[in-house]
Amino acid sequence: MRFSDKVVIVTGAAGGIGLASAKRFGLEGGRVVLADLHPDKGQSAALEVKKAGAPDTLSVACDVSKEADVQRCVEETISKFGRLDVVVNNAGLMIFGPIEELTTAQWLRVFSVDLMGAFYFTREAFRRMKNGGAIVNVSSIHAVETSPSVAAYAAAKAALLSLTRSSALEGKPKNIRVNAILPGAVDTPMLWNNPNVKSGLEQIQRTDVGKPEDIAAAIAFLASDDAKFVEGASLRVDGGRLAQL
Ligand SMILES: NC(=O)c1ccc[n+]([C@@H]2O[C@H](COP(=O)([O-])OP(=O)(O)OC[C@H]3O[C@@H](n4cnc5c(N)ncnc54)[C@H](O)[C@@H]3O)[C@@H](O)[C@H]2O)c1
Repeated sequence: MRFSDKVVIVTGAAGGIGLASAKRFGLEGGRVVLADLHPDKGQSAALEVKKAGAPDTLSVACDVSKEADVQRCVEETISKFGRLDVVVNNAGLMIFGPIEELTTAQWLRVFSVDLMGAFYFTREAFRRMKNGGAIVNVSSIHAVETSPSVAAYAAAKAALLSLTRSSALEGKPKNIRVNAILPGAVDTPMLWNNPNVKSGLEQIQRTDVGKPEDIAAAIAFLASDDAKFVEGASLRVDGGRLAQL
């Protein structure tokens, strides 16, 4: 039970990788805060996390791109549970389109969720975590290899790796470890709604598609004391997809 005395915030926890991670933390004894844009889905996800074994849960309506929402989420967490030990910056979105057609608003929306959300939560965690802790940023293999028509997403996920390095450096004196996961193709709505995947522009072999639980296991490892000497790392979890030329 690696998280039995811990309080964990997972963003984007109402579905996909976030929900699988929230369940994994619950299974291992953590009290889990599910922060998601959709409070109704968040509530039913929180019930699933309790069923998975979490001693307690809290569902918070939170748009990670809004500073005030992030501050309120951390405030509600600490006022309910008295502490904060782990933050998983998982909420993310993709907007597709060739660069010449992308609007500034679309580019900024992707950055505000996929990068700024992680910055707001990291800043808040650095201010409020008292006894050390861990932050896991969910990036993507698009941070290192990409396909056409996802420029904003690829750039935001690459910048998230940079934020991970800087946060790890600044977190070290506070005893807060910060690491990143780079998932490959994972069986969630985000993968199957991807127009590049639908059109065949991005080819994915069946054996290259992982389960949300595969990513959750790696996130839980980085968040746990098993990874106490892992700091500022970018862990690729893609079933070996990028290894093949
Ligand atoms: N599925 C994949 O193949 C894949 C691959 C690489 C990386 N990722 C990354 O993993 C993370 C989770 O992806 P997923 O596949 O589970 O996605 P998903 O679309 O299935 O779930 C994303 C969740 O985030 C929530 N969300 C979206 N915007 C939000 C916001 N502004 N504030 C709070 N919550 C918000 C949604 O409501 C949803 O519950 C994302 O950061 C994504 O970029 C996914």
